[in-house]
Amino acid sequence: MSAPRNVVVIGAGPAGYVCAIRLAQLGQKVTVIEKEELGGTCLNVGCIPSKALIAAGSLMNKAREASAMGIDFGEPKLDLGRLVEWKQGIVGKLTGGVGGLLKSHKCTVKYGKAKLVDKNTIEVEGDKGKETLKFDDIVIATGSVPIAIPGFDFDEKEVWSSTGALAPDRIPEHLVVIGGGYIGLELGFMYKKLGSEVTVLEATPGALPGQDRDCVKIIERSLKKNKVKLMTETFALGYSKKGKKTVVKIKGKNGESTVECDQILSTVGRRPYSEGLGLDKVGLKTDERGFLKVDDQMRTSVPNIYAVGDIAGQPMLAHKGSKEGLVAAGVISGLPERYDVRCVPAVIFTAPEMASVGMTEEELKEKKIAYKAGKFPFAASGRAMSLMETEGFVKVLADEATDEVLGVHMVGPEVTELVAEAALAIEMGATAEDIARTIHAHPTLPEAMMEAAEAVHSMAVHIFQKK
Ligand code: NAI
Repeated sequence: MSAPRNVVVIGAGPAGYVCAIRLAQLGQKVTVIEKEELGGTCLNVGCIPSKALIAAGSLMNKAREASAMGIDFGEPKLDLGRLVEWKQGIVGKLTGGVGGLLKSHKCTVKYGKAKLVDKNTIEVEGDKGKETLKFDDIVIATGSVPIAIPGFDFDEKEVWSSTGALAPDRIPEHLVVIGGGYIGLELGFMYKKLGSEVTVLEATPGALPGQDRDCVKIIERSLKKNKVKLMTETFALGYSKKGKKTVVKIKGKNGESTVECDQILSTVGRRPYSEGLGLDKVGLKTDERGFLKVDDQMRTSVPNIYAVGDIAGQPMLAHKGSKEGLVAAGVISGLPERYDVRCVPAVIFTAPEMASVGMTEEELKEKKIAYKAGKFPFAASGRAMSLMETEGFVKVLADEATDEVLGVHMVGPEVTELVAEAALAIEMGATAEDIARTIHAHPTLPEAMMEAAEAVHSMAVHIFQKK
Protein backbone atom coordinates (compact mmCIF):
# COMPACT_ATOMS: atom_id res chain seq x y z
CA MET A 1 0.00 0.00 0.00
CA SER A 2 1.31 3.47 -0.86
CA ALA A 3 1.87 6.07 1.86
CA PRO A 4 -1.20 8.15 2.77
CA ARG A 5 -1.56 11.40 0.93
CA ASN A 6 -1.93 14.55 2.95
CA VAL A 7 -5.13 16.15 1.64
CA VAL A 8 -6.99 19.32 2.61
CA VAL A 9 -10.66 19.85 1.82
CA ILE A 10 -11.78 23.48 1.93
CA GLY A 11 -15.47 23.63 2.84
CA ALA A 12 -17.57 21.09 4.75
CA GLY A 13 -20.82 21.12 2.75
CA PRO A 14 -22.24 17.99 1.09
CA ALA A 15 -19.48 18.06 -1.54
CA GLY A 16 -16.60 18.68 0.88
CA TYR A 17 -17.52 16.49 3.85
CA VAL A 18 -18.48 13.54 1.63
CA CYS A 19 -15.14 13.89 -0.17
CA ALA A 20 -13.29 14.01 3.18
CA ILE A 21 -14.96 10.86 4.52
CA ARG A 22 -14.30 8.94 1.31
CA LEU A 23 -10.66 10.09 1.31
CA ALA A 24 -10.31 8.77 4.86
CA GLN A 25 -11.99 5.47 3.90
CA LEU A 26 -9.40 5.17 1.13
CA GLY A 27 -6.54 5.65 3.60
CA GLN A 28 -5.61 9.32 3.15
CA LYS A 29 -4.72 11.80 5.89
CA VAL A 30 -7.45 14.43 5.74
CA THR A 31 -7.84 17.97 7.07
CA VAL A 32 -11.15 19.80 6.61
CA ILE A 33 -11.26 23.57 6.88
CA GLU A 34 -14.61 25.25 7.49
CA LYS A 35 -15.22 28.95 8.18
CA GLU A 36 -18.76 28.51 9.51
CA GLU A 37 -20.64 25.31 10.39
CA LEU A 38 -20.15 21.72 9.25
CA GLY A 39 -22.79 20.71 6.70
CA GLY A 40 -22.65 23.86 4.56
CA THR A 41 -25.68 25.56 3.02
CA CYS A 42 -27.58 22.29 2.57
CA LEU A 43 -27.68 21.22 6.20
CA ASN A 44 -27.65 24.63 7.88
CA VAL A 45 -29.63 27.06 5.74
CA GLY A 46 -30.84 25.16 2.68
CA CYS A 47 -32.22 21.73 1.84
CA ILE A 48 -32.74 20.37 5.34
CA PRO A 49 -34.29 23.33 7.22
CA SER A 50 -36.46 24.19 4.22
CA LYS A 51 -37.76 20.64 3.97
CA ALA A 52 -38.50 20.60 7.71
CA LEU A 53 -40.55 23.82 7.47
CA ILE A 54 -42.24 22.70 4.24
CA ALA A 55 -43.26 19.45 5.98
CA ALA A 56 -44.81 21.52 8.77
CA GLY A 57 -46.73 23.67 6.27
CA SER A 58 -47.95 20.56 4.43
CA LEU A 59 -49.12 19.02 7.70
CA MET A 60 -51.14 22.15 8.44
CA ASN A 61 -52.70 21.92 5.01
CA LYS A 62 -53.47 18.23 5.50
CA ALA A 63 -55.23 19.07 8.75
CA ARG A 64 -57.29 21.72 6.93
CA GLU A 65 -58.19 19.31 4.13
CA ALA A 66 -58.99 16.37 6.39
CA SER A 67 -62.65 17.35 6.69
CA ALA A 68 -63.13 15.83 3.21
CA MET A 69 -62.33 12.49 4.91
CA GLY A 70 -64.78 13.26 7.69
CA ILE A 71 -62.14 14.41 10.17
CA ASP A 72 -62.38 17.90 11.65
CA PHE A 73 -59.39 19.37 13.48
CA GLY A 74 -60.40 23.01 13.19
CA GLU A 75 -57.91 25.65 11.96
CA PRO A 76 -54.41 24.53 13.08
CA LYS A 77 -52.61 26.85 15.50
CA LEU A 78 -48.94 27.51 14.85
CA ASP A 79 -46.40 28.21 17.60
CA LEU A 80 -43.66 29.62 15.37
CA GLY A 81 -41.03 29.63 18.12
CA ARG A 82 -41.49 25.90 18.71
CA LEU A 83 -41.52 25.15 14.98
CA VAL A 84 -38.22 26.99 14.45
CA GLU A 85 -36.75 25.24 17.51
CA TRP A 86 -37.83 21.83 16.15
CA LYS A 87 -36.31 22.63 12.75
CA GLN A 88 -33.09 23.79 14.42
CA GLY A 89 -33.00 20.52 16.38
CA ILE A 90 -32.97 18.55 13.11
CA VAL A 91 -30.18 20.76 11.75
CA GLY A 92 -28.22 20.29 14.99
CA LYS A 93 -28.57 16.50 14.87
CA LEU A 94 -27.37 16.34 11.27
CA THR A 95 -24.47 18.77 11.60
CA GLY A 96 -23.46 17.01 14.83
CA GLY A 97 -23.65 13.75 12.87
CA VAL A 98 -21.26 15.11 10.25
CA GLY A 99 -18.86 16.16 13.03
CA GLY A 100 -19.09 12.69 14.54
CA LEU A 101 -18.46 11.00 11.21
CA LEU A 102 -15.42 13.17 10.44
CA LYS A 103 -14.05 12.43 13.90
CA SER A 104 -14.57 8.68 13.68
CA HIS A 105 -12.85 8.71 10.29
CA LYS A 106 -9.95 10.56 11.95
CA CYS A 107 -10.31 13.66 9.77
CA THR A 108 -8.89 16.79 11.40
CA VAL A 109 -11.36 19.69 11.38
CA LYS A 110 -10.05 23.26 11.57
CA TYR A 111 -12.40 26.22 11.84
CA GLY A 112 -11.28 29.33 9.98
CA LYS A 113 -10.97 30.90 6.55
CA ALA A 114 -8.59 29.13 4.20
CA LYS A 115 -6.41 30.97 1.71
CA LEU A 116 -4.16 29.43 -0.93
CA VAL A 117 -0.52 30.49 -0.58
CA ASP A 118 0.90 28.23 -3.28
CA LYS A 119 -0.18 24.94 -4.82
CA ASN A 120 0.85 22.98 -1.70
CA THR A 121 0.36 25.55 1.04
CA ILE A 122 -2.74 26.88 2.78
CA GLU A 123 -3.09 29.62 5.35
CA VAL A 124 -5.95 29.27 7.80
CA GLU A 125 -7.17 32.28 9.71
CA GLY A 126 -9.26 31.32 12.70
CA ASP A 127 -10.18 32.71 16.12
CA LYS A 128 -6.74 31.89 17.44
CA GLY A 129 -4.81 33.57 14.63
CA LYS A 130 -3.12 32.36 11.47
CA GLU A 131 -1.61 28.99 10.73
CA THR A 132 0.23 27.75 7.62
CA LEU A 133 -0.16 24.13 6.53
CA LYS A 134 1.35 21.99 3.75
CA PHE A 135 -0.58 19.44 1.66
CA ASP A 136 -0.09 17.07 -1.25
CA ASP A 137 -3.56 17.72 -2.66
CA ILE A 138 -6.20 20.40 -2.22
CA VAL A 139 -9.94 20.03 -2.78
CA ILE A 140 -11.90 23.28 -3.15
CA ALA A 141 -15.51 22.84 -2.04
CA THR A 142 -16.42 26.41 -1.10
CA GLY A 143 -19.99 26.33 -2.43
CA SER A 144 -22.15 29.27 -3.42
CA VAL A 145 -23.97 32.29 -1.98
CA PRO A 146 -27.31 33.91 -2.86
CA ILE A 147 -27.21 36.58 -5.58
CA ALA A 148 -28.42 40.03 -4.53
CA ILE A 149 -30.04 42.31 -7.12
CA PRO A 150 -29.63 46.10 -7.11
CA GLY A 151 -31.91 47.80 -4.60
CA PHE A 152 -32.46 44.59 -2.61
CA ASP A 153 -29.37 44.01 -0.48
CA PHE A 154 -29.95 41.27 2.06
CA ASP A 155 -30.31 42.73 5.53
CA GLU A 156 -32.36 39.69 6.63
CA LYS A 157 -34.89 42.16 8.06
CA GLU A 158 -36.65 44.02 5.24
CA VAL A 159 -35.11 41.79 2.59
CA TRP A 160 -34.67 38.12 3.36
CA SER A 161 -32.40 35.75 1.50
CA SER A 162 -33.41 32.10 1.85
CA THR A 163 -31.36 32.10 5.08
CA GLY A 164 -33.60 34.74 6.70
CA ALA A 165 -36.74 33.06 5.39
CA LEU A 166 -35.73 29.82 7.10
CA ALA A 167 -35.35 31.41 10.55
CA PRO A 168 -38.41 33.69 10.77
CA ASP A 169 -39.51 35.43 13.95
CA ARG A 170 -42.98 36.01 12.50
CA ILE A 171 -45.13 34.82 9.62
CA PRO A 172 -45.45 37.80 7.23
CA GLU A 173 -48.93 38.97 6.36
CA HIS A 174 -47.91 39.58 2.78
CA LEU A 175 -44.67 38.18 1.42
CA VAL A 176 -43.30 39.37 -1.92
CA VAL A 177 -40.93 36.82 -3.43
CA ILE A 178 -38.55 38.03 -6.13
CA GLY A 179 -37.72 35.10 -8.45
CA GLY A 180 -40.02 32.20 -9.27
CA GLY A 181 -37.33 29.51 -9.40
CA TYR A 182 -36.59 26.57 -7.10
CA ILE A 183 -36.27 28.49 -3.84
CA GLY A 184 -38.87 31.16 -4.58
CA LEU A 185 -41.60 28.62 -5.26
CA GLU A 186 -40.68 26.17 -2.50
CA LEU A 187 -40.67 28.96 0.10
CA GLY A 188 -43.59 30.78 -1.53
CA PHE A 189 -45.80 27.69 -1.20
CA MET A 190 -44.47 27.11 2.32
CA TYR A 191 -45.35 30.61 3.55
CA LYS A 192 -48.78 30.33 1.92
CA LYS A 193 -49.44 27.14 3.89
CA LEU A 194 -48.17 28.80 7.07
CA GLY A 195 -50.70 31.60 6.56
CA SER A 196 -49.10 34.42 4.50
CA GLU A 197 -50.48 36.08 1.43
CA VAL A 198 -47.80 35.52 -1.23
CA THR A 199 -46.91 37.34 -4.48
CA VAL A 200 -44.13 35.98 -6.70
CA LEU A 201 -42.38 38.27 -9.19
CA GLU A 202 -40.72 36.35 -12.02
CA ALA A 203 -38.63 37.95 -14.76
CA THR A 204 -39.26 35.34 -17.47
CA PRO A 205 -42.63 34.42 -19.06
CA GLY A 206 -43.18 31.45 -16.72
CA ALA A 207 -42.26 29.92 -13.36
CA LEU A 208 -39.30 27.54 -13.05
CA PRO A 209 -37.47 28.39 -16.29
CA GLY A 210 -35.73 25.41 -17.88
CA GLN A 211 -38.05 22.81 -16.32
CA ASP A 212 -40.50 20.61 -18.27
CA ARG A 213 -43.28 23.02 -19.30
CA ASP A 214 -46.06 20.40 -18.92
CA CYS A 215 -45.05 19.92 -15.28
CA VAL A 216 -44.74 23.67 -14.73
CA LYS A 217 -48.31 24.15 -16.02
CA ILE A 218 -49.57 22.01 -13.12
CA ILE A 219 -47.49 24.05 -10.66
CA GLU A 220 -48.79 27.33 -12.10
CA ARG A 221 -52.36 25.99 -11.85
CA SER A 222 -51.71 25.04 -8.25
CA LEU A 223 -50.33 28.52 -7.50
CA LYS A 224 -53.59 29.96 -8.81
CA LYS A 225 -55.75 27.45 -6.89
CA ASN A 226 -53.84 28.23 -3.69
CA LYS A 227 -54.15 31.97 -4.32
CA VAL A 228 -50.42 32.57 -4.69
CA LYS A 229 -50.11 35.42 -7.17
CA LEU A 230 -47.49 34.81 -9.86
CA MET A 231 -46.57 37.92 -11.86
CA THR A 232 -44.49 36.90 -14.88
CA GLU A 233 -42.26 39.14 -17.00
CA THR A 234 -42.03 41.31 -13.93
CA PHE A 235 -38.91 42.87 -12.39
CA ALA A 236 -38.53 44.39 -8.94
CA LEU A 237 -36.92 47.83 -9.22
CA GLY A 238 -36.57 48.87 -5.58
CA TYR A 239 -38.52 49.36 -2.38
CA SER A 240 -39.37 52.05 0.15
CA LYS A 241 -40.97 52.09 3.60
CA LYS A 242 -44.39 53.63 4.22
CA GLY A 243 -44.97 53.32 7.96
CA LYS A 244 -44.85 49.60 8.74
CA LYS A 245 -45.57 48.72 5.16
CA THR A 246 -43.00 48.04 2.45
CA VAL A 247 -43.76 49.33 -1.02
CA VAL A 248 -42.07 47.40 -3.83
CA LYS A 249 -41.72 49.19 -7.14
CA ILE A 250 -42.10 46.80 -10.06
CA LYS A 251 -41.96 46.88 -13.83
CA GLY A 252 -44.26 44.42 -15.55
CA LYS A 253 -46.02 43.80 -18.84
CA ASN A 254 -48.13 46.92 -18.34
CA GLY A 255 -45.39 49.28 -17.19
CA GLU A 256 -44.41 50.38 -13.69
CA SER A 257 -46.56 49.90 -10.58
CA THR A 258 -46.19 49.04 -6.90
CA VAL A 259 -47.03 46.15 -4.56
CA GLU A 260 -47.45 46.64 -0.81
CA CYS A 261 -46.21 43.96 1.53
CA ASP A 262 -44.57 43.54 4.93
CA GLN A 263 -41.69 41.27 3.86
CA ILE A 264 -39.50 40.76 0.82
CA LEU A 265 -37.72 37.50 -0.02
CA SER A 266 -35.22 37.66 -2.86
CA THR A 267 -34.34 34.35 -4.56
CA VAL A 268 -32.93 35.12 -7.98
CA GLY A 269 -30.25 32.43 -8.01
CA ARG A 270 -26.94 31.62 -6.38
CA ARG A 271 -23.36 32.29 -7.48
CA PRO A 272 -20.20 30.29 -6.83
CA TYR A 273 -18.20 31.48 -3.85
CA SER A 274 -14.42 31.88 -3.97
CA GLU A 275 -13.83 35.34 -2.46
CA GLY A 276 -10.54 35.71 -0.63
CA LEU A 277 -9.45 32.17 -1.48
CA GLY A 278 -6.29 33.36 -3.26
CA LEU A 279 -6.93 31.52 -6.53
CA ASP A 280 -4.49 33.91 -8.24
CA LYS A 281 -1.69 32.61 -6.00
CA VAL A 282 -1.86 29.25 -7.78
CA GLY A 283 -2.71 30.59 -11.25
CA LEU A 284 -6.38 29.59 -11.14
CA LYS A 285 -9.10 31.79 -12.61
CA THR A 286 -12.86 31.43 -12.45
CA ASP A 287 -14.95 31.81 -15.62
CA GLU A 288 -17.24 34.80 -16.17
CA ARG A 289 -19.94 33.18 -13.97
CA GLY A 290 -17.52 32.46 -11.13
CA PHE A 291 -17.10 28.70 -11.66
CA LEU A 292 -13.79 26.84 -11.62
CA LYS A 293 -13.27 24.73 -14.73
CA VAL A 294 -12.62 21.05 -13.96
CA ASP A 295 -12.07 17.91 -16.03
CA ASP A 296 -14.08 14.71 -15.58
CA GLN A 297 -11.80 13.76 -12.67
CA MET A 298 -12.63 17.05 -10.89
CA ARG A 299 -9.09 18.38 -11.50
CA THR A 300 -8.60 22.07 -12.09
CA SER A 301 -5.84 23.26 -14.43
CA VAL A 302 -3.43 22.79 -11.48
CA PRO A 303 -2.98 18.97 -11.29
CA ASN A 304 -3.05 18.60 -7.48
CA ILE A 305 -5.95 21.03 -6.95
CA TYR A 306 -9.50 19.74 -7.36
CA ALA A 307 -12.87 21.50 -7.23
CA VAL A 308 -16.23 19.91 -6.32
CA GLY A 309 -19.80 21.06 -5.72
CA ASP A 310 -21.36 24.44 -6.57
CA ILE A 311 -17.97 26.06 -7.29
CA ALA A 312 -17.36 23.43 -10.01
CA GLY A 313 -20.39 24.25 -12.16
CA GLN A 314 -24.10 23.68 -12.68
CA PRO A 315 -26.38 22.18 -11.55
CA MET A 316 -25.86 23.57 -8.06
CA LEU A 317 -27.41 20.60 -6.30
CA ALA A 318 -26.21 18.88 -3.14
CA HIS A 319 -26.30 15.37 -4.60
CA LYS A 320 -24.28 16.42 -7.67
CA GLY A 321 -21.67 17.93 -5.32
CA SER A 322 -21.51 14.77 -3.20
CA LYS A 323 -20.98 12.64 -6.29
CA GLU A 324 -18.15 14.94 -7.41
CA GLY A 325 -16.65 14.69 -3.92
CA LEU A 326 -16.58 10.90 -4.19
CA VAL A 327 -14.95 11.10 -7.62
CA ALA A 328 -12.23 13.51 -6.45
CA ALA A 329 -11.50 11.32 -3.41
CA GLY A 330 -11.12 8.27 -5.65
CA VAL A 331 -8.88 10.06 -8.15
CA ILE A 332 -6.61 11.41 -5.39
CA SER A 333 -6.37 7.85 -4.06
CA GLY A 334 -5.25 6.53 -7.45
CA LEU A 335 -8.55 4.95 -8.49
CA PRO A 336 -9.79 5.20 -12.10
CA GLU A 337 -12.82 7.33 -11.10
CA ARG A 338 -14.60 9.66 -13.48
CA TYR A 339 -17.58 11.96 -13.22
CA ASP A 340 -19.37 10.07 -15.94
CA VAL A 341 -23.03 10.30 -15.04
CA ARG A 342 -25.78 10.23 -17.61
CA CYS A 343 -28.17 12.25 -15.52
CA VAL A 344 -28.59 14.29 -12.34
CA PRO A 345 -32.10 14.15 -10.87
CA ALA A 346 -33.74 17.38 -9.74
CA VAL A 347 -36.42 17.63 -7.08
CA ILE A 348 -38.54 20.64 -6.23
CA PHE A 349 -40.65 20.65 -3.07
CA THR A 350 -43.53 22.70 -4.37
CA ALA A 351 -47.18 21.73 -3.87
CA PRO A 352 -47.54 19.36 -5.63
CA GLU A 353 -43.91 18.29 -5.80
CA MET A 354 -42.02 18.22 -9.06
CA ALA A 355 -39.09 16.02 -10.09
CA SER A 356 -37.22 15.32 -13.26
CA VAL A 357 -34.26 13.48 -14.64
CA GLY A 358 -32.72 13.36 -18.10
CA MET A 359 -33.73 15.45 -21.08
CA THR A 360 -36.89 17.54 -21.36
CA GLU A 361 -39.07 17.50 -24.49
CA GLU A 362 -37.78 20.97 -25.26
CA GLU A 363 -34.17 19.69 -25.20
CA LEU A 364 -34.99 16.61 -27.30
CA LYS A 365 -36.65 18.80 -29.94
CA GLU A 366 -33.70 21.17 -29.93
CA LYS A 367 -31.28 18.24 -30.41
CA LYS A 368 -33.54 16.77 -33.10
CA ILE A 369 -33.81 13.43 -31.28
CA ALA A 370 -36.96 11.54 -32.28
CA TYR A 371 -38.81 10.38 -29.15
CA LYS A 372 -42.06 8.88 -27.94
CA ALA A 373 -43.83 10.13 -24.81
CA GLY A 374 -46.02 8.22 -22.40
CA LYS A 375 -47.99 10.00 -19.70
CA PHE A 376 -50.00 8.65 -16.80
CA PRO A 377 -52.12 10.94 -14.60
CA PHE A 378 -52.26 10.51 -10.83
CA ALA A 379 -56.03 11.06 -11.15
CA ALA A 380 -56.14 7.42 -12.36
CA SER A 381 -54.07 6.10 -9.40
CA GLY A 382 -55.96 4.48 -6.54
CA ARG A 383 -53.10 5.24 -4.16
CA ALA A 384 -53.09 8.93 -5.12
CA MET A 385 -56.85 9.07 -4.55
CA SER A 386 -56.52 7.56 -1.08
CA LEU A 387 -53.93 10.25 -0.28
CA MET A 388 -56.27 12.95 -1.67
CA GLU A 389 -53.45 14.06 -4.00
CA THR A 390 -54.53 13.38 -7.55
CA GLU A 391 -52.99 16.39 -9.27
CA GLY A 392 -50.16 15.75 -11.71
CA PHE A 393 -48.67 12.96 -13.79
CA VAL A 394 -45.58 10.96 -14.70
CA LYS A 395 -44.20 11.42 -18.19
CA VAL A 396 -41.66 9.03 -19.70
CA LEU A 397 -39.72 10.09 -22.80
CA ALA A 398 -38.10 7.27 -24.78
CA ASP A 399 -35.96 7.18 -27.92
CA GLU A 400 -38.26 6.44 -30.86
CA ALA A 401 -35.82 3.99 -32.45
CA THR A 402 -34.31 2.18 -29.44
CA ASP A 403 -36.99 2.71 -26.73
CA GLU A 404 -34.22 3.80 -24.33
CA VAL A 405 -35.51 6.09 -21.59
CA LEU A 406 -34.11 9.60 -22.19
CA GLY A 407 -36.05 11.66 -19.68
CA VAL A 408 -38.70 11.32 -16.98
CA HIS A 409 -40.65 14.28 -15.66
CA MET A 410 -43.17 14.12 -12.89
CA VAL A 411 -45.37 16.37 -10.87
CA GLY A 412 -47.62 15.06 -8.11
CA PRO A 413 -47.58 13.27 -4.75
CA GLU A 414 -44.19 12.05 -3.46
CA VAL A 415 -42.57 12.42 -6.88
CA THR A 416 -39.35 13.61 -5.22
CA GLU A 417 -39.09 10.00 -3.99
CA LEU A 418 -40.38 8.39 -7.20
CA VAL A 419 -37.69 10.00 -9.34
CA ALA A 420 -35.03 7.62 -7.95
CA GLU A 421 -36.39 4.77 -10.06
CA ALA A 422 -36.26 6.99 -13.14
CA ALA A 423 -32.65 8.00 -12.45
CA LEU A 424 -31.64 4.34 -12.10
CA ALA A 425 -33.45 3.51 -15.35
CA ILE A 426 -31.56 6.18 -17.31
CA GLU A 427 -28.23 5.40 -15.65
CA MET A 428 -28.64 1.69 -16.53
CA GLY A 429 -29.76 2.40 -20.10
CA ALA A 430 -33.19 0.85 -19.47
CA THR A 431 -35.90 0.94 -22.12
CA ALA A 432 -39.50 2.00 -21.51
CA GLU A 433 -40.38 -1.66 -21.99
CA ASP A 434 -37.98 -2.65 -19.15
CA ILE A 435 -39.91 -0.40 -16.77
CA ALA A 436 -43.28 -1.50 -18.14
CA ARG A 437 -42.38 -5.20 -17.66
CA THR A 438 -41.15 -4.70 -14.08
CA ILE A 439 -43.82 -5.61 -11.52
CA HIS A 440 -44.60 -2.58 -9.38
CA ALA A 441 -46.32 -3.24 -6.05
CA HIS A 442 -50.01 -2.35 -5.78
CA PRO A 443 -51.34 -0.05 -4.50
CA THR A 444 -48.41 2.38 -4.69
CA LEU A 445 -47.55 5.64 -6.42
CA PRO A 446 -44.67 4.11 -8.46
CA GLU A 447 -47.30 2.21 -10.44
CA ALA A 448 -47.75 5.54 -12.23
CA MET A 449 -44.17 5.20 -13.47
CA MET A 450 -44.91 1.72 -14.84
CA GLU A 451 -48.11 2.88 -16.51
CA ALA A 452 -46.38 5.93 -18.04
CA ALA A 453 -43.77 3.53 -19.49
CA GLU A 454 -46.61 1.36 -20.83
CA ALA A 455 -48.21 4.51 -22.24
CA VAL A 456 -45.09 5.06 -24.38
CA HIS A 457 -46.37 2.09 -26.41
CA SER A 458 -50.06 3.09 -26.00
CA MET A 459 -50.51 0.12 -23.66
CA ALA A 460 -51.33 1.71 -20.28
CA VAL A 461 -54.08 -0.38 -18.73
CA HIS A 462 -55.72 2.17 -16.46
CA ILE A 463 -56.30 4.94 -19.01
CA PHE A 464 -57.79 4.80 -22.47
CA GLN A 465 -55.27 5.60 -25.21
CA LYS A 466 -56.15 5.87 -28.86
CA LYS A 467 -53.67 3.81 -30.89
P1 NAI B 1 -33.23 29.67 -9.61
O1 NAI B 1 -32.22 29.86 -10.65
O2 NAI B 1 -33.90 28.35 -9.46
O3 NAI B 1 -34.40 30.73 -9.83
C1 NAI B 1 -34.19 32.11 -9.90
C2 NAI B 1 -35.40 32.73 -10.57
O4 NAI B 1 -35.33 34.13 -10.46
C3 NAI B 1 -35.49 32.40 -12.06
O5 NAI B 1 -36.78 31.96 -12.34
C4 NAI B 1 -35.18 33.74 -12.73
O6 NAI B 1 -35.83 33.90 -13.96
C5 NAI B 1 -35.70 34.72 -11.69
N1 NAI B 1 -35.09 36.05 -11.71
C6 NAI B 1 -33.78 36.35 -11.88
N2 NAI B 1 -33.60 37.69 -11.76
C7 NAI B 1 -34.81 38.22 -11.49
C8 NAI B 1 -35.28 39.55 -11.24
N3 NAI B 1 -34.44 40.59 -11.24
N4 NAI B 1 -36.61 39.75 -10.99
C9 NAI B 1 -37.46 38.68 -10.99
N5 NAI B 1 -37.06 37.41 -11.22
C10 NAI B 1 -35.76 37.18 -11.45
O7 NAI B 1 -32.52 30.15 -8.26
P2 NAI B 1 -32.95 29.98 -6.75
O8 NAI B 1 -34.40 29.70 -6.64
O9 NAI B 1 -32.42 31.16 -6.04
O10 NAI B 1 -32.15 28.70 -6.30
C11 NAI B 1 -30.72 28.68 -6.40
C12 NAI B 1 -30.22 27.27 -6.59
O11 NAI B 1 -30.39 26.53 -5.40
C13 NAI B 1 -30.97 26.54 -7.69
O12 NAI B 1 -30.29 26.66 -8.91
C14 NAI B 1 -30.96 25.13 -7.21
O13 NAI B 1 -29.93 24.44 -7.83
C15 NAI B 1 -30.67 25.18 -5.72
N6 NAI B 1 -31.83 24.71 -4.97
C16 NAI B 1 -32.19 23.40 -5.04
C17 NAI B 1 -33.33 22.95 -4.37
C18 NAI B 1 -33.71 21.53 -4.47
O14 NAI B 1 -32.93 20.72 -4.93
N7 NAI B 1 -34.93 21.16 -4.08
C19 NAI B 1 -34.14 23.85 -3.56
C20 NAI B 1 -33.68 25.18 -3.58
C21 NAI B 1 -32.56 25.58 -4.25
